[in-house]
Amino acid sequence: MDTPKHSIDLQRLPKHIAIIMDGNGRWAQEKGQDRLYGHFHGVESVRDIVEGCAELGVQYLTLYAFSTENWDRPEYEVTGLMELLVDTIRKEVETLNKNNIKLHVIGDMQMLPEYARQELNEALELTAANTGLNLVMALSYSSRWELVNAVKNIAKDVAAGKVLPDSICHETLQQYLTTSGFPDPELMIRTSGEYRISNFLLYQLAYAELYFTNVRWPDFRKQNLHEAIEDFQKRERRFGKTSHQVTEAPSL
Ligand code: IPE
Ligand code: IPE
Ligand code: MG
Repeated sequence: MDTPKHSIDLQRLPKHIAIIMDGNGRWAQEKGQDRLYGHFHGVESVRDIVEGCAELGVQYLTLYAFSTENWDRPEYEVTGLMELLVDTIRKEVETLNKNNIKLHVIGDMQMLPEYARQELNEALELTAANTGLNLVMALSYSSRWELVNAVKNIAKDVAAGKVLPDSICHETLQQYLTTSGFPDPELMIRTSGEYRISNFLLYQLAYAELYFTNVRWPDFRKQNLHEAIEDFQKRERRFGKTSHQVTEAPSL
């Protein structure tokens, strides 16, 4: 594999990187092309970034591929994206297995067309035994959908006597989220110059370091990923404490 030079400390990698892959449409339009051309080229970046994370030893990579709100885009774009998704998954399963990558999907699968659901389920099964990078595709996902769903399910379990209202805590809520069992993202990257979260992992990103770049998603490559991680490693993560508390050597 071709790994560009970097100065990343491999002992201090973010365990979980989440990416809002934005800017495909603008990238295409700037080239006088249709938006779907941008999505098509965005797949090359996905391949490169997945490979880059696997090479470094990142444990979780979540990619925001399609939001609940994206269903409201023009029909031809939604259909084109679904076809691209199914086609890509079909072609990539073999590579995922070769690289020991386990696929996960989060989002409202009921919204997906039947053929896409089938293809995804197959890929999930085929990669289920892999133990390397966990690749989480956020599809038809939005945080508000996820949280409403979690609240509904907690309410049902309370009504059924399985959960006591006073026992509900942070860990309980975590268990009802689609990301149950995954560590929270430590680094969130958004491409293409937008400074917003767009309904992505609102609860899980509570203490994530945010990294924004003007690079459009179809131009984003390992080199850019490495820059984001290097930037992450320069930051002091305080989790509400003082700088002194997080830097002082633990007392014996
Ligand atoms: C991100 O690129 C991909 C999806 C949301 C599916 P966009 O399609 O949002 O591209 P821009 O933001 O319009 O340039
Ligand atoms: C967020 O990008 C969703 C994905 C990247 C899949 P959008 O392009 O949909 O977000 P907004 O509309 O700019 O907030
Ligand atoms: Mg966009």
